[in-house]
Amino acid sequence: MQALQSLHTFALPHACQDIVNIDDPLQLHSVDFSQPFCVLGAGSNTVFIEDFIGTVVRINNKGVEIVEHGTFWNVNVAAGENWHSLVTDLLVKGIAGLENLVLIPGTMGAAPVQNIGAYGVELAKFIDYVEGFNVETLAFERLNQAQCQFGYRDSIFKHKLKNKFVITKVGLRLNKQWRPTLDYGPLQKLNEAKVTALQVSDAVMEIRQSKLPNPDELPNAGSFFKNPIVLEAHYQKLCTEYANMPAYPAGQGMRKLAAGWLIEQAGLKGYSVAGVRVYEKQALVLVNEGYSSGSSLCSVIHHVQHCVARQFNIQLEHEVRLIGREGEVILQEKSHG
Ligand code: EPU
Repeated sequence: MQALQSLHTFALPHACQDIVNIDDPLQLHSVDFSQPFCVLGAGSNTVFIEDFIGTVVRINNKGVEIVEHGTFWNVNVAAGENWHSLVTDLLVKGIAGLENLVLIPGTMGAAPVQNIGAYGVELAKFIDYVEGFNVETLAFERLNQAQCQFGYRDSIFKHKLKNKFVITKVGLRLNKQWRPTLDYGPLQKLNEAKVTALQVSDAVMEIRQSKLPNPDELPNAGSFFKNPIVLEAHYQKLCTEYANMPAYPAGQGMRKLAAGWLIEQAGLKGYSVAGVRVYEKQALVLVNEGYSSGSSLCSVIHHVQHCVARQFNIQLEHEVRLIGREGEVILQEKSHG
C-alpha cells in the first residue's frame, strides 16, 4: 500500500494500492481505467476516509501558454499547474480577472470540477475550454464552456462525466478591459475607480488568511459543505424565527443560505470528535488536529448534518469529495418532516 497522508490537505493517515504520476497526458493511454481509480490534483478538495483499494492517478503536467489577442488574452494551462501561482503570475504580467480567486488551494485541473468561486466571482466565466482524456473512448476531447454545464460548485465533471474524464488542460479567456468585482462585504471599502487588480488580490488574501486555516499549518479541505439552496417559502418561514439570517438570491423562487451561519447557530463551532474539529473562525471548515481518522471525520459530518437538519430542516451536502475503500462516498442526513 502507498501512503496518502501527504497527498491530500486534510492529511488523514490512509493509503491506496498504487499511485501513478502523470507528467505527460499521453501517459494516460497506459493507465488501466477498468480498475478502481481516483484522479487527484493537489488533494485540497478530496479526503481519503479509508484505505482506497485502487489506483490514485496524480495529475502533475506543467505548462502555461499565453496568447495575446486584440481585446483579450487566451491562457492555456496544464492541469497540474498550481492555481494560486497561476493567478499571481498572471497578475504580475498585468493580466487581471482572477484576483478574487487568489489563494484558493489546488490545481488548474481540479478547479473546473467544482467551479471554484470566492468573493463574488466563479471560475466558469473565464473558461474557454476544458480538455481531457475520456476513459471510455480512450481519446482526448475538448469541451467548450457551455458543454461543461457549470453551476454553483458544480459541473458536468461531477455528473455525466464523473469518473469518465481526466482533465489535462484548461483554456482561459481573460478580457483586457478590466473591472473589479467588489460586491463582497469587506471588499466594498475599496475604491472602484482607483483600485488595481493587485490591490484586490491583496485584500482577498488578507480576508482569507483571517478566516481560513492554512492547510500547511492546520490540515483542512476548505469549505466542507455547500451553501444550501432552499425554496423562498422555506427561507421566509425561517426568517420569522431568525431575522438576521444571511441569504443570497439563487434564481427564481430560491435562496442560497450560509451553511457556516447555520452550523454556528446550531452551536457547533469548536465541536470535535477525536481530532476532527469544526473550526472556530469559520464553521464551514473542518480541521484535522493531526491524530484523527476517517471514522472521526464521518462522525463529525453526520453530527453537523443531523443538527442542521433538526434545527432548520435543511440537508447539508458535503462539498468535499470523500473517498472510501471502494471509491467515492456520499454522506447524507435523512429528511426531517
Ligand atoms: N458565517 C457565520 N458563521 C460562520 C461562518 C459564516 O455566521 O462560522 C456567516 C458570515 O458572517 C456571512 C455568511 O455566513 O454572513 C457567509 O460567510 P462567508 O462570507 O465566510 O462565506 P461562506 O458562504 O461561508 C463561501 C465559499 C468560500 C468562499 C467564501 C467567500 C462555499 C461552500 N464556500 O463561504 O469558498 O471563500 O464564500 O466568497 O460556497 C471553499 O469553497 O473552500 C471556500 C472557502
